[in-house]
Amino acid sequence: MTGKTLGRYKITGILGKGAMGVVYKGHDPKIDRQVALKTIRSEIFADESNREELLRRFQQEAQIAGRLSHNHIVGIYDVGEDDGITYIAMEYIDGKSLDKIIKDGIRLSIDQIVFTAIQVCDALDYAHRHGIIHRDIKPANIIIIGDANKVKVADFGIAKLVDADMTIGKRLMGTPYYMSPEQIKGGKYDGRSDLFSLGIVLYELLTGKKPFSGEDISTIIHNIINQTPLPPGKVNSNVPHLFNKVVLKALAKDPGDRYQTGHEFINTLRSTFKDDAGATIPDGYFKTIQKAGDRPELLEKIGLRGKFRRLLVAAVGVLLVIMSYSLWLKKREKQITPPPPTISEGYKDKSIIKMGYINVKSDPPNANIFIDGKNRGITPYLLEVSSGRHEVKLIKEGYLSWEATLEVQENETLNLFQTLKSR
Ligand SMILES: Nc1ncnc2c1ncn2[C@@H]1O[C@H](COP(=O)(O)OP(=O)(O)O)[C@@H](O)[C@H]1O
Ligand SMILES: [Mg+2]
Repeated sequence: MTGKTLGRYKITGILGKGAMGVVYKGHDPKIDRQVALKTIRSEIFADESNREELLRRFQQEAQIAGRLSHNHIVGIYDVGEDDGITYIAMEYIDGKSLDKIIKDGIRLSIDQIVFTAIQVCDALDYAHRHGIIHRDIKPANIIIIGDANKVKVADFGIAKLVDADMTIGKRLMGTPYYMSPEQIKGGKYDGRSDLFSLGIVLYELLTGKKPFSGEDISTIIHNIINQTPLPPGKVNSNVPHLFNKVVLKALAKDPGDRYQTGHEFINTLRSTFKDDAGATIPDGYFKTIQKAGDRPELLEKIGLRGKFRRLLVAAVGVLLVIMSYSLWLKKREKQITPPPPTISEGYKDKSIIKMGYINVKSDPPNANIFIDGKNRGITPYLLEVSSGRHEVKLIKEGYLSWEATLEVQENETLNLFQTLKSR
């Protein structure tokens, strides 16, 4: 595809591949700037019957997301179609996504993690106030430029395009690791769902482990809905204990028990960081280089134009960043920087009851499941049980009952599929 064009954009390389399609690096000759071109796989619009309607909605959603203009949000420039390929042209970010950082085994320091979370919160707070829910907050959509000095959140509102009517063949897209309980249940959800997802990212960055995991999608989903994760400080002893409450609040099952806004989450992160490290994060810390045109009134007053104006703005921006950073460093000089978290090996908390799962299916289905003599539901059913031995019995009218002793390992899912013999 390199050397080809999409609309007026020249394709210059490949940036990555996602659930929706390939993301290309491109160049906009009209404005002479680099862009990222996200293409949408044709299957997504394959259903000919409502193709036009989906395309119209897609463009409308991209338009709405395109109205967002924020320091920590990847800007959307354009949406178009060329030779049957639908694409979105957006701000090109020369950075590294958090999922690549995690995959490369890079551990961020507590400072970097907190700064990252605050910037994502800031972006979410702004978008939520503008009526846009991200819906797909996950490490792959959080791009770090430099040393977590600046974070950009990608794909605002775009994930929305592929749910509801646009699920591919009713298949859930991507992994559910970062989804909120209410999102999984398919009911109504709001910005607090994004803050839950951010809580999961924060947990993973701090501990190196996902709060809700499992061998298969149904187990992960079950855990997100039912399981209370271990406090991060118990998973990794290097995590300051002050952060336990902060993270678990974000992961509350009931949205009413979570942070209600991105701003509330920021305030808690800031004050916890201060209580832990004794240092404050200055307000201007994240306000890095302003884009030319971001502050028209001021610039008009100064009366500068064009390249020189951009240069000056950039220079002043850089200076401000250096100044606020050195000020902040000075404040922190006497503080001990917490060591970067590392995964502690084999940690187990004895006070926690260890749980496992039995995924019970039967042919035919709708058999009563008895675990240790207690009726726990009907097949097919994913049951949470304490780890260890259990008497499992399946009873269905017209069939011989089936019984066995099963051993369930901690955090593991035992798959049981039993064909029942008719009487
Ligand atoms: N605006 C962008 N600038 C630079 N790289 C990007 C941009 N958007 C996406 N990418 C890259 O393309 C990859 C695929 O993106 P995407 O299709 O959104 O899938 P996902 O977010 O699920 O990884 C990302 O992991 C990232 O590396
Ligand atoms: Mg993405």
